[in-house]
Order: sequence, then C-alpha cells, then structure tokens
Amino acid sequence: MRKLMKTTTSALAALAIAGSVAQAAEVEVLHWWTSGGEAAALNVLKGDLESQGIGWQDMPVAGGGGTEAMTVLRARVTSGDAPTAVQALGFDILDWGAQGALADLNEVAAQEGWDDVVPAALQAFAKYDGKWISAPVNVHSTNWVWANKAVLDANGIAVPETWEDFVAAVETLSAAGVTPIAHGGQAWQDATVFDAVAMSTGGPDFYKAAFIDMDEEALGSDTMKQAFDRMAFIRANVDDNFSGRDWNLATAMVINGEAGFQMMGDWAKGEFLNADKVPGQDFLCFRFPGTQDQVTFNADQFMMFDQGGVVSEEQAALASAILSPSFQSAFNVVKGSVPARTDVSDADFDACGKQGMKDLAAAAASGNLFGSMAHGHANPAGVKNAIYDVVTAHFNGEYDSETAVEELVDAVSIAQ
Ligand code: GAL
Repeated sequence: MRKLMKTTTSALAALAIAGSVAQAAEVEVLHWWTSGGEAAALNVLKGDLESQGIGWQDMPVAGGGGTEAMTVLRARVTSGDAPTAVQALGFDILDWGAQGALADLNEVAAQEGWDDVVPAALQAFAKYDGKWISAPVNVHSTNWVWANKAVLDANGIAVPETWEDFVAAVETLSAAGVTPIAHGGQAWQDATVFDAVAMSTGGPDFYKAAFIDMDEEALGSDTMKQAFDRMAFIRANVDDNFSGRDWNLATAMVINGEAGFQMMGDWAKGEFLNADKVPGQDFLCFRFPGTQDQVTFNADQFMMFDQGGVVSEEQAALASAILSPSFQSAFNVVKGSVPARTDVSDADFDACGKQGMKDLAAAAASGNLFGSMAHGHANPAGVKNAIYDVVTAHFNGEYDSETAVEELVDAVSIAQ
C-alpha cells in the first residue's frame, strides 16, 4: 500500500513479537458513534486497524452531535490523560490546535499526498498553522430530509420541492392521523433542523451572513423571524413525546412508518441501512425543500493528542488507515456520509450516497458549500452554544419568533 503504512505495519509486527511491548500497539479512541448505524460504521475502522495488529480501546460517549463527548474530552485532558485519538468537528479541532495539544501529522500527510486529495473546505478545519492536526473521515451534510416511501405513497405525497409543498405534505399527513415529522427535542437536533430552515428561508447569502459572518443585521432580520416562524410550524407537527428523544429513535419512527419525515444529517441513512431498508424502495432522501443547490456540511475527523512531541506509530497508522481510499469508500458507504477525498469512486455507494457526492462537488464548485452551524463548522463553540440556547428556547415555546430574533442578536454578540 503506502510506504509509511508498510513501515508502520512491519514495525508493529515487530512489536507484537516483542510480547509485553505489544500492548503499546493500541489506540484509545474517544467518539460518540453509539447508535446502530454509527456502530456498524465504526466497526469498519476497528476491523481495519485490527487487521494491522493495532488494538482498539473503545471510549464511547453517547450523545449525538458530540456535546457530551467534548465535555468528557476536556476533563480527560485537564487530568493529564488525553486519549490517543478523538472524534471531533470543525472549530473544536482548531481550538485544540491553537492550544498546541495535537500531534503533528505532516509527515504522514506529505507521504500520502493529503494536500492534493482532501477538499479545501475540509483542510480549513484539519490544519492549524500549516500543520495537519487531524485526519478527516468523511463529509456529512445536514440539509437532508428522510421519508418513509410507503407513508408518502399511501397519502399521495410527492417529494416536496418548496417550503409550500412541504407545508402541504405535512398538513396532509396530519389530517390522515400520521405524525408528520419525527424529531428528537435536544438542542443539537433543533439546531440541525434550523440549519436547513434558515438556508431555505433566506438562501445562501443570508445563511453565510448570519451564521458564518455573524452579521448583526442578518441575525436580527425579518428573514430570521420568518425562519423562526417556520420552526414553530415544525414544532406544531411533531408528536407529543418528542422532548429529549435521541435522533436515532426519531429515525426509527420513519423507518417503522410511524412518521412521514425526519430532517436530519445523512448519518440517519446509516440507521435505515442497518435496518435493511433500501433507498428509493423503502425510504427517500432529498434535500430540504428550497436548499437543493446548497450543502451545509460537517466533517468528522480524528485528532491525535500529542503523546510527547512526536506522533506515535499507532497514531500514524490510524491516520493513514482513515485516509486510505478503500477505507474511505467502505466506511462512508455504511455511515451515510461521503468520502473526505475527491478521488474516491462512487461505484459502491447507493443512490443517496451518489447524490451526496454529486451535490458536494457541485456545491463546492458553485460557491454553495457552507459549514453547518449546528455541527460546529460555521462558528466557534461559544457562539454555536449561544445559538443552540435561543433556537431550543423558541422551539419549546419560551420565546415567540420576535423575541427569539432579539435574543439571538444579543446571545451571539455576547458569545463572540
Ligand atoms: C454528528 C456527526 C455524525 C453523527 C451525528 C449524530 O455531529 O458528525 O457523524 O455521529 O453527529 O451522532
């Protein structure tokens, strides 16, 4: 395979022979991939490493979106016990990079030509100060809708193209006594829906101004109020037990035909596949109405914590395995995401995966690729959490839309 990998593999084989030293050939991986679909994808990575003689010490921290995982990580680092490798997103990675806590992956990156194959939008979150500080596993995007095909067919509903189509579809399901929208009331899930709703309501310039540039005028605009009004419509069309529900249980409602739609990132597809469902036959994937030309992305990466100045053999092997083209295909086919390199064939991907790859390339080419606010790719954690608080308070009826807009302007300004 690659030169470094060969060296690493033989070095590890030597370690294995050395007996007691063999224990060193292990990585501890902190991650939040605990749902059925996520665990299936993680097994692809575990298997890949194990085939190289590297042991896997699992450190799962449940909680979609990774908020809890990041809290555990901070505690571990504070007590001087950082895990070898850690799943992380966007601005969190840059933050750890700025603190000088991460191992320098430049050698493996140079040997394997990451600069040439990892899209620029991802490199912006994988490098700090010219150094590669994390290994991108995938590209997810948040502006997707997942639908139960039989439920839609039974109610004569076609794939909605516009917000108005979506409203009509939701009202049809509601009148038929079907829960229109499966949702889990957790801050990160409310924010995930808000990514798509804000993009659809105001378009790409508005999304960028509000979430990436954190422009006060956009945050306080009538367009933002309209986005909150649309969130209120969505809130009115979820079931009574939505509060606190895990995202994968909401996906299960669509899988089982208990609900029509779920607005969720493409990790939801992993749950459908894990339940042996087939895209186009059992379920449909489509861009949130009004965001067909845009992609709001988040990329999972693995940061390697500095183990005393140099990257360890196991960390280099893990980074190398993650970026290998065959792993990128095998893993992302299962995870629901698309490859973090531009040179991987879409041959093994299903229809949703093929569309995801095409959409990503088109959005990158037309300037319509934006970091997801909900998943840490639009602004730093402090601002993201401030937006979460307002979106969730509004979703739960604490604020009307006008108040939410005012609170949003204040919260973002204080958090910066
Ligand atoms: C996202 C992450 C995905 C998926 C999701 C739900 O932040 O990028 O890989 O795990 O959370 O847990």
